Amino acid sequence: MALSGPGTVKYPNLFSPKKIGNLEISNRAVVSPLTRASATEDGIVTDQMRDYYASYARGGWGLIMTEAVYIDLKYSQGYAYQPGIASDEQRDSWAKVVEAVHAEGAPIFMQIFHCGAINQGNNWVEGSIAPSVVTPKGEQIPRYRGSGTVFQTPREITRDEMAEVVETYGQAARRAIEVGFDGVEVHGANGYLPDEFLTVYTNQRDDEYGGPIENRIRYHCEVMESVRAAVPDKPVGVRISQTKVNDFEYVWPGGDDDARVVFPRLAETGIDFLDCSAHLGVSPVFGTDKSLSGLARRYTGLPVMANGKLHDPDVAEKAIADEEGDFVAIGKGALADHGWPRKVAAGEAPVPFDPGMIMPYATHDCYDDFWKANPTGIPEEKVAARDVTEGA
Ligand SMILES: Cc1cc2nc3c(=O)[nH]c(=O)nc-3n(C[C@H](O)[C@H](O)[C@H](O)COP(=O)(O)O)c2cc1C
Repeated sequence: MALSGPGTVKYPNLFSPKKIGNLEISNRAVVSPLTRASATEDGIVTDQMRDYYASYARGGWGLIMTEAVYIDLKYSQGYAYQPGIASDEQRDSWAKVVEAVHAEGAPIFMQIFHCGAINQGNNWVEGSIAPSVVTPKGEQIPRYRGSGTVFQTPREITRDEMAEVVETYGQAARRAIEVGFDGVEVHGANGYLPDEFLTVYTNQRDDEYGGPIENRIRYHCEVMESVRAAVPDKPVGVRISQTKVNDFEYVWPGGDDDARVVFPRLAETGIDFLDCSAHLGVSPVFGTDKSLSGLARRYTGLPVMANGKLHDPDVAEKAIADEEGDFVAIGKGALADHGWPRKVAAGEAPVPFDPGMIMPYATHDCYDDFWKANPTGIPEEKVAARDVTEGA
């Protein structure tokens, strides 16, 4: 639904429509995936989650991406109280979300997820699997209900499991479309299973999935081929990053040469879009003149979502005008103000993000407690100085 107001004149790029695959998106503001760890223990969607997603739809977002949703009843779940799309029961529990969002006229994609070694809470199995036996850096993240202690060491995923998980991504994507989602994004970023194949220090394999970048991107490509085959006529895409929930420093070692392999290879699988998350925003990378999302766009010609610190509408507009992305995926700014696009269109200032909104947990209950304690939010100048570097 097209928004109107002075902001649509001030920000012509942000408020112009654009297609992803065969789907017309009414503006360029996308809710970035946000894990809320607020489903039931066995991954069933609640009414609270329905109301949460519906409030974004009322807020005028061009597209809503769900939080990361796990794909099987084995090793994919990474967070306690994370929602799933692994069974028919879990699938059917999403119907109320899709119906509520569609009733407000917004499209919604599901982000599908396998945690790999970054397991902070799994209802189904003990242990974790990864490309190689490497203990994840850092500690589990209490904000996502992790223990605050070190991660367990994964065992090496078997070749049979690798093939099974590829198949399972496709099945999960199919279930998402069956229950009415408009598209699917694979979480291929931030240190989870596919990204563990892409990352040199978590991939110590000496088979055709390890070593050069052409090998390390192979697993992503197999996953995307599976998802594309399972969902031939709805938009599908993949999220990519350099940094990880447990490592904000990692940089692709081959720099621009890696980008020239990663993005075209992914595009060859027939996907419709790329989503590049970069917690520091759209600054140039690898000594080029472009951000990671800008390079993704340049090397594929696909629609690209840029992400990271784009909640200021001036910055968001400029990112699109500068061809750093076609869409802006907004995380913390969306969480702070579900009505961000509508307010920006109306020329009003959205409520700024405050870390208290996701403390002590990034759950809906803690968020509601924040608003009870601070009914009008926290003014920009008083927002806690500490930035929350993100997650999930
Ligand atoms: C509470 C929280 C939960 C998140 N959950 C996810 C997730 O499920 N999937 C994902 O790809 N990124 C997740 N992220 C990362 C955001 O989507 C986004 O990339 C990050 O917040 C940077 O964008 P921003 O500067 O607009 O917040 C999460 C971030 C936060 C703060």
